This record gives sequence, structure tokens and C-alpha cells, in this order.
Amino acid sequence: MQAAVYREFGGPIRIEQVPVPQLSPDGVLVQVMATGVCRSDWHGWKGHDDDVKQHGLPFVPGHELSGIVVQVGRSVKQFSVGDRVTAPFILSCGNCRYCHRNRTTVCSDQQQPGFTYWGSFAEYVAIPRADRNVKRIPDSVSFVQAASLGCRFTTAYRAVKQQGRLQQGESIAIFGAGGVGLSCVMMAASIGANIIVAIDLSNDALDLAMKLGATHVVQASVKDCCQQVQLLCGGDGADLCVDAAGFAETCENAVLCTRPAGRMVQVGLPIGDHRPQVPMGRVAGKEIEIIGSHGFAADDLPELLDMVASSSLDPAKLVRREVSLREGAIELESMDKGSPIGITMIVRFNDSKL
Ligand SMILES: NC(=O)c1ccc[n+]([C@@H]2O[C@H](COP(=O)([O-])OP(=O)(O)OC[C@H]3O[C@@H](n4cnc5c(N)ncnc54)[C@H](O)[C@@H]3O)[C@@H](O)[C@H]2O)c1
Ligand SMILES: [Zn+2]
Ligand SMILES: [Zn+2]
Repeated sequence: MQAAVYREFGGPIRIEQVPVPQLSPDGVLVQVMATGVCRSDWHGWKGHDDDVKQHGLPFVPGHELSGIVVQVGRSVKQFSVGDRVTAPFILSCGNCRYCHRNRTTVCSDQQQPGFTYWGSFAEYVAIPRADRNVKRIPDSVSFVQAASLGCRFTTAYRAVKQQGRLQQGESIAIFGAGGVGLSCVMMAASIGANIIVAIDLSNDALDLAMKLGATHVVQASVKDCCQQVQLLCGGDGADLCVDAAGFAETCENAVLCTRPAGRMVQVGLPIGDHRPQVPMGRVAGKEIEIIGSHGFAADDLPELLDMVASSSLDPAKLVRREVSLREGAIELESMDKGSPIGITMIVRFNDSKL
């Protein structure tokens, strides 16, 4: 099969012919129909991600996927060849103490395509533990819509609704309006937040945020960015701030813009060179709650798939470009220089001209 492969961290990502992945007895082999280019793939490629480092090179990225089951392991009960499926990127084990406590997003034995093993920037990807983690896609949901549920859209749902506990009528400030941040904007709008502020360096990203439901935007490069956000949220900050970008500055600003007794959710990954200096004096003095958020639990996916099927939420609005595997690999490399607007989705996997 063809796959996008890197052989050194930060080195070229090339389209190569590689063996189709082996199927585990509890897994399914999926022909990938759509896979998103997420900044977490960039972290893996840059050598920031411990799982990728532990796996070793060469490596195939990709964790935000949907496709068709083409092979089924012998112990799998719920899936057959031909099923249209997706899976959140955290494939939990079901046996550890966190799975037993229903905290599967921090499963201590989790597998993740594109991090703990070769991912979906390829014609085929293996998904182990299928009965626990793979979900069927309703007929009315497209592969592109379903793939965006594999990571950023569902991650935003967990960050804003489950971990951030955003309520109707509250204010929210979202730092970073890339794939995760724009998904957070859509979630906040669907919950009925009354003030939704998006903050980014890119004016194009801010324009898109306004179209997707932000009530205000603030350009991150201005000197008084935090003051502007605080003022827009009633003077002393937002009920909920989300660092949806994962840079030192976005993390620090999100804490600074949270109102006293408010919540701050860290969902962007400030890893690699980014070491935030969190104003912990403010956290203590203002009783700010800082909450982590990681991925999404597979058990909650049918609820979101139904919301997409009933058209109340449409992740496809975030997808700005549909590209080939080669173009997706180039896009990942170019994240060194900046972010694409919205989500880029790879939808062509075996272009004979590659
Ligand atoms: N916790 C999780 O489960 C999880 C899941 C998915 C992604 N992530 C992480 O979330 C982060 C965002 O991912 P993405 O795919 O949306 O990335 P992205 O590159 O699409 O978006 C990042 C955005 O941040 C903006 N930005 C950069 N510097 C800024 C600044 N100083 N102030 C405000 N905005 C700034 C960029 O212009 C861009 O629009 C990454 O760190 C990624 O690894 C975490
Ligand atoms: Zn587990
Ligand atoms: Zn991701």
C-alpha cells in the first residue's frame, strides 16, 4: 500500500510503498477514506511525542480517520467487512484501573494510531480493540464528517462540554482558532454561550471563527490582547478559557483571562520547546480551576454521531481543503511555518501519479 512515511524526526515525509498492516485478533483493518492533518501529527513528526519516540522510526502519522472495514480479526463480534466506521484516536484497553473507573481517555494501556503504532496517512490502517473502540457511521454522515470526529471535533466537545462544563449563558474565550479552536467555537455556540471570544494571530482564522459562531474576536498580536478579552467578558475575564493552540503564550494568556473562580481547560499540547510560565499566584489567589482534557471516550461517540446525522452540528464546515496523500504530507511539513485555515482532510490515497 502507499503511505506517508518519515524516517527521521523533522525529516522529509515521503510517499512510499509499504506492507499492509498486520491485523490483531481483536482488530479490524480499515481502508482509509478520509484522514485529517492535525497539529498533534506535527508534534509526532517533530519528535515531541513520547509515544512516537518510543515506537521508533520509520513512522506513518495520522489519527483522525474514517473508512471501510476490509478485514476482521477472529475475536471481533460487532463488525463485518464493508462497514463504514470511525474511531476516536484513544483506543482504550478496558482492563486498567482508569478504564474500570470509566476514565478511558487516560487509559494506562491505550493505543493510538499515528502515535503508538503506524497511523492513517496510508491506504489501510489497523484498529485493534475494535469492539470497544470502533463505531459505525450512520448512512447520512460522510467519511469526511466522520473523520473529523476522530480527533479535533470530539476533543473540543470534551474540552468545552465535559471537562470545561460550559453552561448556556456563560462566557468563553478560546485561544487559537485552528482545527481544535474552531471546533470549540462551534461547540460553545451549540451550547448557547452568550459571549464567545476567539483569539488568534491569523485574521483569516478569526474571520472563520466569526462565521462559525464567535461573538467577538481579538487579534493575539496586540499588546493589550488579554485586557481586551477580559473587557469583552464583563471586565474580570471569562467563565471558561480554553488553550486550544498549545503554545506557551496561549496557555499563559488563557490563565490570565479566566475570571476569579472560573475554569481554564488545557487541551492544546505545549510540548517540545513550549514551556509555559503559568501565573500560579493568580491560580491560587483567584481560585482558578485548571483542568486537562485529552481526546474523547469511544462510548460517547454515538451521541455525537447522532448530532451530526441530525444536522445540529456539522464538522464538515471546518474542512477547508480536501487533498491527496502527497499534498497532506506537504501540509504537515509546512506546519513548521504556520497553520492551515480550518481542517485539511486527505481523501485521495492512491493516486497513480504520486
Ligand atoms: N488534548 C488533546 O487531546 C488534543 C487533541 C488534538 C489536538 N491537540 C493539540 O491542540 C493544539 C491545536 O491543534 P490544531 O490541530 O487545532 O492546531 P492548528 O495548528 O490548526 O491551530 C493552532 C492555532 O493557534 C494559532 N496561534 C499560534 N500562536 C498563537 C498565539 N500566540 N495566540 C493565539 N493563537 C495562536 C495559530 O494561528 C492557529 O490558528 C495542538 O497542540 C495539538 O497537538 C490536543
Ligand atoms: Zn485501560
Ligand atoms: Zn489530533
